[in-house]
Amino acid sequence: MISFRQMILGRTPGHTDMSETHAGQGKVVVNRSMSLDGFIAGPDHEMDWAIDFFTEDPFPEIMAATGAMLIGRRTHEVAKRMSHEDRDYDGGPVFVMTHQPPDEPDPGVTFLTGDLAEAVATARAVAGGKNLEILGADLASQCLQRGLVDDVLVYVLPVLMGDGVRFSTSGLGRIDLEPFDNVQSGPVTMLRFHVRK
Ligand SMILES: NC(=O)c1ccc[n+]([C@@H]2O[C@H](COP(=O)([O-])OP(=O)(O)OC[C@H]3O[C@@H](n4cnc5c(N)ncnc54)[C@H](OP(=O)(O)O)[C@@H]3O)[C@@H](O)[C@H]2O)c1
Repeated sequence: MISFRQMILGRTPGHTDMSETHAGQGKVVVNRSMSLDGFIAGPDHEMDWAIDFFTEDPFPEIMAATGAMLIGRRTHEVAKRMSHEDRDYDGGPVFVMTHQPPDEPDPGVTFLTGDLAEAVATARAVAGGKNLEILGADLASQCLQRGLVDDVLVYVLPVLMGDGVRFSTSGLGRIDLEPFDNVQSGPVTMLRFHVRK
């Protein structure tokens, strides 16, 4: 079964480590599950509604193509809050963007602060030539706004949530996308887009 962290963090555990370097670079991909009405989390950051659709990994090739993640601090906090449901995560190269790194280290993650483009470059450099996933509505919206994202990948889930955390923040503005793939696996429809630059 795909774990909560794998699902919202979009990777297979254990295939790269912090010391890895690489010749080529993968893409920067905003990756998330979304209700049909555009929510990526429920009220109070609830995620159970999405996990129910991922009892099996419908698209293993996506996780296999992923080498590192850059996630927002709130996404990290929600993942920690739900850690009782997910004990098999190996704590690979997860970078957490924050304005205030904690004094104490958090096992399995590296906190980054400062310029967003530099953070993306730092996380991308350890992705082993695979893709860097960007997670969290606030963080991903900023990356889109700054032109740092190559692709958007959405798992559309057959549910209407009515309320919660929206796909993007209200200040995002218009971003034009070019569709290049759509596949259905059971109840999950994967849509993929290039960001027009
Ligand atoms: N459905 C899915 O696939 C999916 C995927 C990922 C996440 N989620 C859900 O999305 C929700 C979280 O998204 P969110 O939009 O609320 O928050 P978020 O983007 O995960 O995190 C926002 C936080 O990240 C830090 N941050 C953002 N931009 C920064 C910058 N430029 N410099 C420094 N720090 C920066 C700040 O932390 P500080 O306040 O510490 O400075 C900010 O408060 C959670 O419920 C999570 O479960 C769903």
